Amino acid sequence: MLVLGLETSCDETAAAVVEDGRRVLADVVSTQVDIHRRWGGVVPELASRNHIVQVMPVVHEALTRAQKTLDDVDLIAVTSGPGLIGALLVGVQVAKGLSLATGKPFVGANHLEGHLLAIRLIEDAPEPPFLGLVVSGGHTSLYEVQAYGRYRLVGSTRDDAAGEAYDKTARILGLPYPGGLPIDQLAQKGDPEAIRFPRALPGDNFDVSFSGLKTAVLHHVRKHGVPEGQALADLCASFQEAVADVLSKKLVAAARRLGHKQLVLCGGVAANSRLRALCSERARERGLNMYLPPVRLCTDNGAMIAVAGYEAYRRGLRGDFRLAADPAWRM
Ligand code: KG4
Ligand code: ZN
Repeated sequence: MLVLGLETSCDETAAAVVEDGRRVLADVVSTQVDIHRRWGGVVPELASRNHIVQVMPVVHEALTRAQKTLDDVDLIAVTSGPGLIGALLVGVQVAKGLSLATGKPFVGANHLEGHLLAIRLIEDAPEPPFLGLVVSGGHTSLYEVQAYGRYRLVGSTRDDAAGEAYDKTARILGLPYPGGLPIDQLAQKGDPEAIRFPRALPGDNFDVSFSGLKTAVLHHVRKHGVPEGQALADLCASFQEAVADVLSKKLVAAARRLGHKQLVLCGGVAANSRLRALCSERARERGLNMYLPPVRLCTDNGAMIAVAGYEAYRRGLRGDFRLAADPAWRM
C-alpha cells in the first residue's frame, strides 16, 4: 500500500511516499526557517502563506523522487492537528483536493502520533507496547503506546516544551532560531559541569518543567553578561546537560514504574546529541531497549505522517470532506 504523507502543521512543508507504513521511497522537506528567523520564531500567517506556495511543488518532488504518480498512490495522509490553524488548513485542503481529483481515500493524522510512529521506519523497529517521549518545539509529552491508536499520556511539561526552552535560551544568548542545533553544536565543545543549572523534577510523577531553567539562564546572563568563546560553549553544555538529565531520568523512571522494556525518543529535540547519549546510557544500565530515530525522522517530516495515516487506515479510519483541522487535538 502506497501512502502519500503530507505535513504542514508548523514551519516545514513536507511530503513523503511510504510503502506499507515501513519503507520510505521519498521524503521531501522544505523548511521555512530562513523566513521566520528574522522574527525569532514562527509567524503563523507567514507560515500558512508559504505552505500554499510550497505544498504542490513539494508533493510533485516527492512523487518524482519515488518514481511514482498520483495514480500509484493508495492513500493520502495529512496532519490535521495539533498545530497552527492556518498552516494545518493548507495541508488538509490539499489532501481533500487530491482525494477529490483522484478518487483516492484520505485520512487525517495526529502530528504527535506521527512523531511516535516515525520509529517504525527504522530497521528492527519496536512493535507496541512501548513508552514514547515526544520532545519537540511545541510538546514534551510522555506516552504509553499500548497499541496502534491506543495512547495514554502519562506525563508532560508543566510549562515550556523542551524545544521551546532551547529556542528561548538561544534567543537570550543571541544565537539564531531555531536554537536547538546551534546550542547542541556549541555544547559539544563545552564543560557540562561549568554551571550547575537547576533540575526541576516536580513531584512523584512523570511531569517535567523547563521555565525555571530558562529563567536561571536569564539570571546568569544578567549577572555575567552574554558569554563568548569558551564561556558560551560552557553555558550551552551546562544547559544541555540539565535538559538531558531531567528528560532521561523521567523516561527511565517511568519505564521502570510502568513496566516498559522498550523506549522511544522522538520529535525535533530527539535530534539532540547529549539527550540521545544519556537516554541510551541510562536505558542500557537498567537493561532497557532505547530506540532512536535517525535525525531526519526526528524533526517534522511527511514520512511519519504517512506511517500514522497508514495505521489509522488499517484501523478503519477514513477521512471525509467534513474533516476539519484541529489546532488543539489532544491524543
Ligand atoms: O518536531 P519539530 O521539528 O517541530 C515541532 O513539532 O515543534 O521540533 C522543532 C524543535 C525546535 O525547538 C528545535 O530547536 C529543536 O526541535 N531541535 C533541537 C535540535 N534540533 C532541533 N533541540 C535540541 N538539539 C537539537 N540538535
Ligand atoms: Zn513536530
